[in-house]
Amino acid sequence: MKFKHEWIEKNPLLLIVLVVLVVSVGGLTEIVPLFFQRSTTEPVAGLKPYSALRLTGRDIYVREGCYNCHSQMIRPFRAETERYGHYSVAGESVYDRPFQWGSKRTGPDLARVGGRYSDEWHRAHLNNPRDVVPESNMPSYSWLATTKLATNDIVPKMRALQRLGTPYSEAEIAEAPKALEGKTEQDALIAYLQGLGTQIKAKR
Ligand code: HEC
Repeated sequence: MKFKHEWIEKNPLLLIVLVVLVVSVGGLTEIVPLFFQRSTTEPVAGLKPYSALRLTGRDIYVREGCYNCHSQMIRPFRAETERYGHYSVAGESVYDRPFQWGSKRTGPDLARVGGRYSDEWHRAHLNNPRDVVPESNMPSYSWLATTKLATNDIVPKMRALQRLGTPYSEAEIAEAPKALEGKTEQDALIAYLQGLGTQIKAKR
């Protein structure tokens, strides 16, 4: 046996092939079952696909890089659940492409921020966070309030998601551009934030 192992180690190509094989089998046995488990593929009760406005808000969240300072995943530890509410479950992000879990927390986790503040609070906070939280180091995003939403790309976006399995109806897609008309980027972002994590509410 000793001899054989030495032989493998002295054959870089064979070593590479065997390492790739071992890592792939190990990885696949962990990853593949997740594609078929109900708890990771089925939406939690009450979860609906993002409306046109919230979907647009989500894209603004990604565009502005909010995820660089905010995670959206509450870990199953007491210190986390006491602060943020029920820990996050996979079935809450089945319509998230890509998911926004993350681990970087310069600011608080946002997985359950929906409904915690009023829309007016969010408006003030996004325009200038220091107006409502004096010690905040979050940047201002005041231009979102004056930038009107583009309505031309929502239909292809929803179609793409539909192709990937998000259950949008034809009517929902047809009405999408109208739902964005006259709305600002700030409206969309706040609609997105106000829905976050609202399907599961923790008893506090
Ligand atoms: C440079 C890091 C940074 C970035 C980027 C950032 N934030 Fe924040 N955010 C913070 C910090 C720090 C706080 C805590 C202080 C406060 O409330 O302003 C916070 C607080 C928040 C809160 C209140 C959360 C709570 O539970 O009280 C919301 C909502 C929020 N941010 C949304 C956003 C959105 C949306 C974006 C992107 C448009 C964003 N943040 C970008 C750092 C950041």
